[in-house]
Amino acid sequence: MPRLTNIGCLATCANPVGQDDIGLIRDAALVWRDGVVRWTGPAAALPPEYRHEAEWDAAGRFVIPGLVDAHTHLAFGGWRAGEFADRIQGRDYLEIAAAGGGIKSTVRATRALDEDALLDRSRAFLSGMVSLGITTVEAKSGYGLDLETELRLLRVYRRLDEMGPARIVATCLAAHVVPPEWAGDRAGYVRLTTEEILPAVAEEGLADFCDVFVEDSAFSAAEARRICERGSELGLRPKLHVDQLTGGGGAELAASLGAASADHLEYVSEAGIDALAAAGVVGVTLPLASLYLNQAPPPARALIDGGVAVAVASDFNPGTAPSYHLPFAMTLACTRQRMAPAEVLKGATRYAARALGREGEAGSLEPGAAADFAVIDAPDVEHWLYHLRPNACVATVIAGEIRHGGLRGA
Ligand code: NIG
Ligand code: FE
Repeated sequence: MPRLTNIGCLATCANPVGQDDIGLIRDAALVWRDGVVRWTGPAAALPPEYRHEAEWDAAGRFVIPGLVDAHTHLAFGGWRAGEFADRIQGRDYLEIAAAGGGIKSTVRATRALDEDALLDRSRAFLSGMVSLGITTVEAKSGYGLDLETELRLLRVYRRLDEMGPARIVATCLAAHVVPPEWAGDRAGYVRLTTEEILPAVAEEGLADFCDVFVEDSAFSAAEARRICERGSELGLRPKLHVDQLTGGGGAELAASLGAASADHLEYVSEAGIDALAAAGVVGVTLPLASLYLNQAPPPARALIDGGVAVAVASDFNPGTAPSYHLPFAMTLACTRQRMAPAEVLKGATRYAARALGREGEAGSLEPGAAADFAVIDAPDVEHWLYHLRPNACVATVIAGEIRHGGLRGA
């Protein structure tokens, strides 16, 4: 039963409430057994039964729960650097999409890859994420948009969850956009999703969640409702892409469907904020997407003040957020969303886990939670997110085992 000692500052994120309450303990110790946390507290108060256990040395550093990236599109084929350059020249994201680029171009590249090729690519991304301190990753399908390729993407996620290096929570995003072959029959594609894709996903147990991109250019609120209600019947809880490019009552829809999260929210309305708060839906903000699209960020302060738990995630995808650097997204959440560093840390740990239905298991260090943590070379959360470095994470531990870096004694 190892213990981690000489922790200069430990953020437990054990309190379910309080966006800025990260449960700081100075000069702390952390004890786990069989991959599960047994005890956290000031080192001076370590109970005698744990005093003779193997000692790992945090060298006075800052220790956090393993980061939880609550929104990624991890597996995809190709890249879209040309569109990045085109947008800089003034071409609009939706204009590029309407001309057959955007999501549709990634769908073409993804369909061309077999399961092993998709697995190799996403596993390499995942290793990079783990080196940054990330231990749980939500991963969406949505670049297949036919039965076979949607299942292929979700099978990749199941294999990654089994083989590591990180924990994966899978989401079926068959309703990302209407694929080209169904352009003349939207209702047909919605039927394919509700009658074939979602039932097959549920039958194989391949996803926990069902997502819909609710937007003029993707799916209407009525279509999203039909898809999410079917998902719910099949045991796939909704989480939605809403109010990203236009405001269309998406947050209100997410609240009325009992979604686990409403993601993006650049154009959320006041009524939408009230609805999210009343329904306990986590608001997942994606600072890299609003940065890359050069959009005003979502109103995180109004969300927090309105009583919404706000998460911060990467949205890693080849179009709007071609980076999985969650710590960079966290720094952006501070500067662009006016969130305090502690609020951001809660949003990338405990509240991110809540958005994935994993609160108390992932995203916090408390008895019964997974022994997933990261050791950060900074004195505290303010310094970490202020002094942005390529990587300040010196060790990542998942289920009590080192998966990146090293620690004396381990
Ligand atoms: O979260 N909004 C929809 N989906 C992605 C973008 C996907 C893409 O451009 O490939 C997003 O921003
Ligand atoms: Fe997304």
